[in-house]
Amino acid sequence: MQLLKISEYARNCEQQSPRFTPEIYIFETTTEVDTFAATRLIEQVQAKPASILTLPTGNTPVGMYKQVVNAYNQRLTDLHAVTIFNLDEYYPISQEHPNSYAAIMKRHLINHLLVAAWHIPNGEAKDPELEAERYKQLLEQHQPIDLAILGIGPGTTCHIGFNEKGSSIGSNVRYVPLHPETKEANAKLFDNPRDIPDGTITQGIADILQAKQILVIAKGTSKAWGINRALKGPVSSDAPASFLRLHPNVTFVLDKNAGQYIQ
Ligand code: F6R
Repeated sequence: MQLLKISEYARNCEQQSPRFTPEIYIFETTTEVDTFAATRLIEQVQAKPASILTLPTGNTPVGMYKQVVNAYNQRLTDLHAVTIFNLDEYYPISQEHPNSYAAIMKRHLINHLLVAAWHIPNGEAKDPELEAERYKQLLEQHQPIDLAILGIGPGTTCHIGFNEKGSSIGSNVRYVPLHPETKEANAKLFDNPRDIPDGTITQGIADILQAKQILVIAKGTSKAWGINRALKGPVSSDAPASFLRLHPNVTFVLDKNAGQYIQ
């Protein structure tokens, strides 16, 4: 594993904001990012077998899940006591749709191993507000989350979960319409781009920040702006990932492209 740099930025951040001391790791390749993230997940479960995890979908975590499944198949890890809460799901969407986050989670993780419980918002629910309330209450029964793993939105979206621009620090699970920039980026992943739903049900910023530990993974140039903005400039709703600066235990693990603006 070739670590390009552990950023000095953390030290500078500490001077600016005493509560914020992120670890920032920047690797040459995406596989190294996957290995780091998978190892962190596996170590968490080793330390506490009945861990409660918040996990993302999208493209970024696919390699991490592959490594976790490989470790499971080699009996190097055992997730039978783990409870998983997904960050979000499109709304409305059929759970069988190949682009639903339920289907993606099954494909890459859930179908390959045994966990105690797996929860994800129901994209087929009749009423998104009621479904958000159900998921919020379920999450509250299990908080605090031990480890939340997050991706970050592409371009200038800077979202975490689907907390798009304008999301407040006190936000909880709720229905959020997709920002046009997110919609355009994610529509490309659908066979028919017009099939992309208008919204999502997502954990809120407050839900994410109450996790004991947060790991942000990002790969590729499309994430470079968002990562830089998460770490620099005002902490504000214009850049929802900037709220991560208010959490005392955040690790960023990036490939060299996503970390290109980090000194
Ligand atoms: C997905 C999620 C989103 C994604 C982000 C990046 O569960 O919460 O915030 O992490 O949109 O998506 P990818 O990884 O596809 O670039």
